[in-house]
Amino acid sequence: MRPTLAPFPATRLRRTRTTPQIRGLVRQTTLSVDDFIWPVFVRAGENIMEPIASMPGVYRRSVDKVVEAAREAADLGINAICLFPYTGLEERTEDCTGAWDPDNHVNRAIRAIKAAVPDIAIMTDVALDTYNINGHDGFVEAGEIVNDRSVEALVKMAVAQADAGADIIGPSDMMDGRIGAMRTAFEAAGHSNVMILSYAAKYASAFYGPFRDAVGASAALTGDKNTYQMDPGNADEAMRLIERDLAEGADMIMVKPGLPYLDICRRARDTFGAPTFAYQVSGEYAMIQAAAQNGWIDGDRVMMESLMAFKRAGCDGILTYFAPAAARLLAKR
Ligand code: PBG
Repeated sequence: MRPTLAPFPATRLRRTRTTPQIRGLVRQTTLSVDDFIWPVFVRAGENIMEPIASMPGVYRRSVDKVVEAAREAADLGINAICLFPYTGLEERTEDCTGAWDPDNHVNRAIRAIKAAVPDIAIMTDVALDTYNINGHDGFVEAGEIVNDRSVEALVKMAVAQADAGADIIGPSDMMDGRIGAMRTAFEAAGHSNVMILSYAAKYASAFYGPFRDAVGASAALTGDKNTYQMDPGNADEAMRLIERDLAEGADMIMVKPGLPYLDICRRARDTFGAPTFAYQVSGEYAMIQAAAQNGWIDGDRVMMESLMAFKRAGCDGILTYFAPAAARLLAKR
């Protein structure tokens, strides 16, 4: 028998979309300036803001300019800034000692920001790729990226950053055992309040291309990172990595890249309920900026929609090069 059709739709879901006010009332997910961590590139010199061709609107800044950027970010209400060094080939070595030099670009920037802008949290990146002659995140011996010797160096790098005053340490190297080793070293060095935001589920991704230009690693990198970063086909392994890093003492975890891995963000949030971050990486940023510059998409709207997607997927926050631009738009609303 054919069911009798009602003369009108019983459920008119369009009713709650009628006006901006009603849409505002029923909106489940919101984006706020509280959600952003802003990645910034630090380089040598003074009074320098050097544009990065593959990342329109992003610069390599000398320490004085990084301090200005931190001031600007804090004034916009951004809670945290994340520092990455640019190192030319001439600054790179096989033993990577620059990574734990208390006076490297990042450590100088940490101290300068702490002195001038105390009201912003400082995050760092721990990996050898920005100091290594071959662009890898760990030491290379006979063509192999070795784990345990790399962890020893990464711990020294992390402790130097904590000594300089970093609040949140971000190991992005994907070596095994580094979170526990860093936690132990921090306790021993009197840094029991220093947080670790582990790049726990970090994929071997082609989306990092523009970043490697930005930090000077493209010219140095030999081979790929497939023996330590994750295979894009794997999801269960991401859960095992996150579980392991939390057990070793990570306070927060990250999924990276962002938009292509929102399924991983959602699973991580539902499985662990730990503070969960996504990194909207350089290639994601570059794609949006390139299309916007060509007039193919509305850059501001795509920026906000992409950031909202991370929140909807369960993330507490997003590392994004859009942080100041998005904060400015949010302040206008
Ligand atoms: C370093 C590191 C990378 C990124 C953050 N930390 C690159 C890489 O692993 O090769 C990428 C960030 C971005 O693409 O925006 N280990």
